[in-house]
Amino acid sequence: MTESEKPLRKKLTLPYLFKKVADREPITWLTCYDYPTAYLQEQAGIEMILVGDSLGMTMLGYESTLPVTMDDMIRHAQAVRRGAPTAFVVGDMPYMTYQPSVESAIRNAGRFMAEASCDAIKLEGGAAMADRIKGIVDAGIPVIGHLGLTPQSVAALGGFRVQGKSAVLAKKIVDDAKALEKAGAFAILLEMVPDRLCRLITERSENCIIMSLGSGPDAHGQLLIYHDMFGLYPRFKPKMAKVFGNAGEVILNGLKDYHDEVIKKTFPLPDNWFSMPDDEFEDLVKLIE
Ligand code: KIV
Repeated sequence: MTESEKPLRKKLTLPYLFKKVADREPITWLTCYDYPTAYLQEQAGIEMILVGDSLGMTMLGYESTLPVTMDDMIRHAQAVRRGAPTAFVVGDMPYMTYQPSVESAIRNAGRFMAEASCDAIKLEGGAAMADRIKGIVDAGIPVIGHLGLTPQSVAALGGFRVQGKSAVLAKKIVDDAKALEKAGAFAILLEMVPDRLCRLITERSENCIIMSLGSGPDAHGQLLIYHDMFGLYPRFKPKMAKVFGNAGEVILNGLKDYHDEVIKKTFPLPDNWFSMPDDEFEDLVKLIE
């Protein structure tokens, strides 16, 4: 292990997360899909990392998350774990790896734990997924539920839009949250629901950590999509994402400079190459002749 790879803190565990809730300290959570970014997130003290199936869009360039496979997820989760050995890493179950049956859900959740050393898995859906959650929890795997805007059901939800704005639809999300908690989910992500609905669900949760993605400040913690935070996703920027730095612009400018310098022959300079002693070179020329 090199000096830069030595862990900065103890491995973060479920009791650590629940203690933060008890101490009323917000939990920090970001998506991440690769080794160098995981390394930086760990250095920055980010507590939870979601290896989201959003990698289908942010890393692989698909139009949605639906084509992502378990093998894609495992490969990226392994890289993240190598970069962030102490973070609480969550593997996101891709489309149709848990919907078909409890058995498929347990088998695929187990792959995240056995093959990528994840700490928990996340899956989308309300009460209809309660038996999947119970099965996975009974198999000894911590589960996070995901309600509100659930990208795998975007066609049924009518697009990427706020969920639970009317009392009736909000009540369904409240009921779903209770069903997931009862099934054994230790946490629930609320994505793009109104702030007051998120606060209400957080206040009513008994033994369940509520996390917010675009659902206001009153949850137990916040999640953001890393690519949205740094201007790294070219197709769109969701309203809920704050840009904390424009890495996309910095990288683009660097690429243009490289392109120009190679063309103008101002790169490379002697610092960027390796030389050979004169006598060795003269011998080489003789050898060739
Ligand atoms: O895949 C993902 O990154 C997610 C977020 C949208 C919450 O599930």
